[in-house]
Amino acid sequence: MDVFARFSTFTAAREVIAAGLYPYFLPLDGHEGPTVIRDGREIIMCGSNNYLGLTGDLRVRAAARAAVDRYGTSCTGSRFLNGNLTLHQELEAELASFYGKQAALVMSTGYQTNLGVIAALLTPRDHVLIDQDAHASIIDGCRLSGARLRRFEHNDAGSLERALAALPEDAARLVVVDGVYSMEGDICDLPAISRVCRAHGARLIVDDAHGLGVLAGGRGTPAHFGLTDEVDLVTVTFSKSLASLGGAVIGDEDAIHYLRHHARSLMFSASLPPADTAAALTALRILRDEPELAYRARKNATYVRGELARVGVDTGSSDTPVVPLHTPGTTETLTLWRRLLDRGVYVNPVLPPAASPRLRTSYMASHTPEQLDRALDAFAAEAHLLRQPEPAAAT
Ligand SMILES: Cc1ncc(COP(=O)(O)O)c(C=O)c1O
Repeated sequence: MDVFARFSTFTAAREVIAAGLYPYFLPLDGHEGPTVIRDGREIIMCGSNNYLGLTGDLRVRAAARAAVDRYGTSCTGSRFLNGNLTLHQELEAELASFYGKQAALVMSTGYQTNLGVIAALLTPRDHVLIDQDAHASIIDGCRLSGARLRRFEHNDAGSLERALAALPEDAARLVVVDGVYSMEGDICDLPAISRVCRAHGARLIVDDAHGLGVLAGGRGTPAHFGLTDEVDLVTVTFSKSLASLGGAVIGDEDAIHYLRHHARSLMFSASLPPADTAAALTALRILRDEPELAYRARKNATYVRGELARVGVDTGSSDTPVVPLHTPGTTETLTLWRRLLDRGVYVNPVLPPAASPRLRTSYMASHTPEQLDRALDAFAAEAHLLRQPEPAAAT
């Protein structure tokens, strides 16, 4: 059997392309924030992770340019050997302080951060428990570690507790959750999850990719609940609120020291380029000084959820700038995505196995009321294709 034989048997994407409904790898000509340019036409962007709208901020752009002038375009090597800049260390110190922890370690993407951290911590003898809706990078980190993996019911501390109680008493155990779930926009029940972890001797990592810049005036999920000390490690990405690329793990000095010498995705991959590092650092400083940006992103999403509820659209348990529009199936998801694009609104179609079918919409601090209303008009016009709420039980 030729391993390349699967190239010709993989036909699903070609069929969707032929139907004119292929939603992936859509080329954009301009990407300024709340609007993008596609085929020369301005489209309202309701599918980005640029929650604070900082990718177009003049201060962030200037910092990226200045870093290129000072350091060049690339470090061409791993931080471990020859690619470590004072700029990386400056960003680490400010991130650690922002999260109220001792230290941080900057890596080249959020994906690499989860992969490197989880795989460095666990051995095949250990047990790792993750939420049913955990991000792919968490799953892949667990798989890479070879540890025994179990998934508990989404955001259900009772389900986690049952799974932990079933482990052998002497088993080393790690729990990994998202602070904000990227497909549903709901917030982790950190008070209950951290209590269960403590009761069962499990270490806890929170992936705060979508909590940083969003909750607690941008300070993230542990701060939102006042539980900074109950979380052992936080992982973050710079590719969302911080308008850049890259990721970091934040925790106690001894944990970070260990990871610096064991996280293979850090040690064997080139470091974050100067421009991206400077952009993330500047965005972090803006967030620290202007927490109202985080509140504005959530306020815009609250407005959208309220207006959608008025036209009978159920947005589930979303409580953040991520607002899902649930659909009955794959065909409706792709059809709706296409119709909304034709109406000038960009959203992300999500299909199983990533999550149940839906359009993932998201809102930024920089969306204007007029842009939000135009998007809402488009959603209302196509709402009949969305999954209808369950009828109330007869009394
Ligand atoms: C929850 C979560 N963790 C990690 C990542 C990976 O981040 P990055 O884009 O920096 O690789 C993402 C990105 O989609 C995410 O949503």
